[in-house]
Amino acid sequence: MKDPLWYKNAIFYEVYVRAFFDSNGDGHGDLRGLAQKLDYLQALGIDCLWLLPIYPSPLKDDGYDIADYYSVLETYGSLEDLKFLIEEAHARDMRLITDLVLNHTSDQHPWFQAARSDRASPYRDYYVWSDTDQKYQEARIIFIDTEKSNWTWDAHAGQFYWHRFYASQPDLNFDTPAVQEEMLNVVRFWLDMGIDGFRADAVPYLFERTGTNCENLPETHAYLKRLRQFIDAHYPGRILLCEANQWPVDVRPYFGDGDEFQMGFHFPVMPRIYMALKKESKEDLVWILDRTPPIPDSCQWAIFLRNHDELTLEMVTEEERQWMWRQYAPQDRMRLNLGIRRRLAPLLDNDRRKIELANSLLFTLPGSAIIYYGDEIGMGDNIELPDRNGVRTPMQWDSGANAGFSSAPPQRLYTPVNSIAPFGPQQVNVADQRHDPGSLWNTLRRMIALRKANLVLGWGDFAWAESHSPAVAAYWRTYQREQMLILNNLSHQAQSVTLNIAADAARVFTDVFSGDAWHPSEDNELQIAMQPYQFLWLKRGEG
Ligand code: GLC
Repeated sequence: MKDPLWYKNAIFYEVYVRAFFDSNGDGHGDLRGLAQKLDYLQALGIDCLWLLPIYPSPLKDDGYDIADYYSVLETYGSLEDLKFLIEEAHARDMRLITDLVLNHTSDQHPWFQAARSDRASPYRDYYVWSDTDQKYQEARIIFIDTEKSNWTWDAHAGQFYWHRFYASQPDLNFDTPAVQEEMLNVVRFWLDMGIDGFRADAVPYLFERTGTNCENLPETHAYLKRLRQFIDAHYPGRILLCEANQWPVDVRPYFGDGDEFQMGFHFPVMPRIYMALKKESKEDLVWILDRTPPIPDSCQWAIFLRNHDELTLEMVTEEERQWMWRQYAPQDRMRLNLGIRRRLAPLLDNDRRKIELANSLLFTLPGSAIIYYGDEIGMGDNIELPDRNGVRTPMQWDSGANAGFSSAPPQRLYTPVNSIAPFGPQQVNVADQRHDPGSLWNTLRRMIALRKANLVLGWGDFAWAESHSPAVAAYWRTYQREQMLILNNLSHQAQSVTLNIAADAARVFTDVFSGDAWHPSEDNELQIAMQPYQFLWLKRGEG
């Protein structure tokens, strides 16, 4: 647990506590339930859990609307239960981070209630008020399917208040010094509890300034640096993971000189993994990685295939977005805001080869991988459910009642188990896949173990390798004297690739999965025939 740079080569698991395991039969997953499943996560090879918000909330945005920063949602358990979970995780050498929502609270938060009912309240300035709804017109609307404006009129307050997300989530006013202090108190409280850091939600939007789009402002970076200094001074080794759905050049400043965030999501690489698979071409991946600036050595990208939100298409062109919708969301109800509300397995036609290939990219492109709960067994989605709920259905543990998630009567579950074929619990569940050595779960477990055993994948530089085939994404990862050559055949057809190998290092390439070896020819060419959707992780030197 001592390595301060542990996150460079860690496997993260994003877990929605409500959906994971219900320990008390009330139909909602809870912290005790999650604690009971830590052995499962350890067996998969998970190093760090990321918990979606666990705080008291009216749940208009599944907990991202916080009503109390210092407690745990009743159905999830108590602070004692959280402490127990942290201890159990640490006992397994696993870490745990939680969501930190700085930008906004719930409209039910006592601060907002006080602010709206009295202009003289010390909490009035905790939020952003205006007599008109014409300020900050350059700021885009994020939840375009539900919100018409970032301003909402509040009759009690007699003014408009500012919100970048749902109207039930008023933005905090970071120009108010007390707000800045309050948030440091929140951070202190949870770090004292023993958590290992935060996934900081929606950080680009902390400040508002006339004449700007109110994103990524210098004031925002200054505050985030202050937050980092506070953590480094009192809680060294704890991490901050940045959620900024932005282009890499705009995310780059969130790493600062290694003095802001340790980690940041790489949003735009994600849709391009799906583009690459559908077009059977690496070109979009090349394009985005060429536009990804280097980051300080102590920092790391976080990459992912899916998460709890819609598959966001904010970081693609309008034309690409239309194309992605046509390809991956042919039905209207599969779309939400600027994205696609589906899970990994259905998006990839439930085709094992494509799902494993996508995971090969996840584990070998630069960054640490985050797995979304349920994707390790290929769970499906339920597009009949509203908003993003269709990708937040109960974890499918076995083929029994309620998929083994809860002992409650089915009608009491927070949401129905997804029973839509071929993704119902009969076909997709943990118990069956753990038994079956050839299952997706067991394949991913092996991939995770190999990713972790090869530090070069977490630490190494990245460089494209010329494969002479646009359908094969081939790249070198290099760290000190270690080198790996990664080949991903994005095509449904076999491909033969020829790579030029520098003559100055080991002349054997070992497949870390099978132990098979390849040798370049006399004139330093490596020739490999690849099966459809095959991937190879080749280690330079003996395996
Ligand atoms: C982030 C979360 C999303 C939430 C939003 C508002 O984008 O990922 O689930 O709705 O912030 O808090």
